[in-house]
Amino acid sequence: MTSDAETLPPETSPASPSPAADFADAVVRGLSQPRKVIPARYLYDRRGSELFEAITALPEYYPTRTETGLLDAHASEIGRIAGTGKVVVEFGSGSSTKTPVFVKAARAAAYVPIDISEGFLRDAATRLSRLLPGLDILPVAADFAKPIALPGAVEGRPMIGFFPGSTIGNFAHAAAVDLLRAFRATLGADPWLAIGIDLRKNPRLIEAAYDDSAGVTAAFNLNLLARINRELGGDIPLGAFEHRAVWNDDAGRIEMHLAAARDVRFHAAGGSFSLREGETIHTENSHKYTIEEARLLARAAGWRPVRWWIDARGLFSLHLWRGGADAMEP
Ligand code: AVI
Repeated sequence: MTSDAETLPPETSPASPSPAADFADAVVRGLSQPRKVIPARYLYDRRGSELFEAITALPEYYPTRTETGLLDAHASEIGRIAGTGKVVVEFGSGSSTKTPVFVKAARAAAYVPIDISEGFLRDAATRLSRLLPGLDILPVAADFAKPIALPGAVEGRPMIGFFPGSTIGNFAHAAAVDLLRAFRATLGADPWLAIGIDLRKNPRLIEAAYDDSAGVTAAFNLNLLARINRELGGDIPLGAFEHRAVWNDDAGRIEMHLAAARDVRFHAAGGSFSLREGETIHTENSHKYTIEEARLLARAAGWRPVRWWIDARGLFSLHLWRGGADAMEP
């Protein structure tokens, strides 16, 4: 049922001629393997993004509200330690819901949201300029997993990266290190990073967060098959698949799978595929860290952990790291 991270394709986008070709290629390659996988980034079409927003409000999904509480409590302290007046660069800004509290506390000189979705960037910029009039907002539509050239207007200015939501958990360890190195490269000399990281805890709590009683996470996962049918001419019988969320203790991650409830055959993206009853398509990993593992991750990517905060229940952590030559320990 589980598979290790190395069998999953990298989370970064391959260089294909178009997004539709990327998706078709990932589906054909992923479904042709003995252990079937589709990279998690394809969960986020418009419908998938709406369902993810709904997940963040679920009673079982503790990460969003816990991290919001940590930001409310500690954003000013982050501003005091890192210094205010920097350019805030948010990676994978999405709907930027956690941004105002951070940007205010950082007394940001400017805000650079980076997201692959131009629609999200436009909506977020409109909302934020209403909430924070006078803030310079410079959106960048790009894949944040690669080093990015920021707008000329902020070049050479002190920067702090903001990467909330424990999105880092969706990357396998080696890819997470590469990503955090890319952030350093993007943020210039003497960068800082505020990052949210979900903690290891009782697996029952984690499994409930990824298999909620209202079935929203199941709908989010199954939407991937509906998306294949919509966009890649698929004929996947959606009723033949079930959502599974499985804690993989060795790898320290919760895995999402789509399990065949019976033997099933279908077509998609010009290929034909079959699964035996019980066989799964692995669709997402969400790694959970101990504080020590999070600090090791920072160091592996050339960041120095400066401070961290956890909530009273020990569910989620917020970290402040510093990069650049000054940050390296003797
Ligand atoms: C976006 N990411 C941090 C979420 C997570 O918790 O790994 C995605 C998600 N998948 C199912 N529920 C939420």
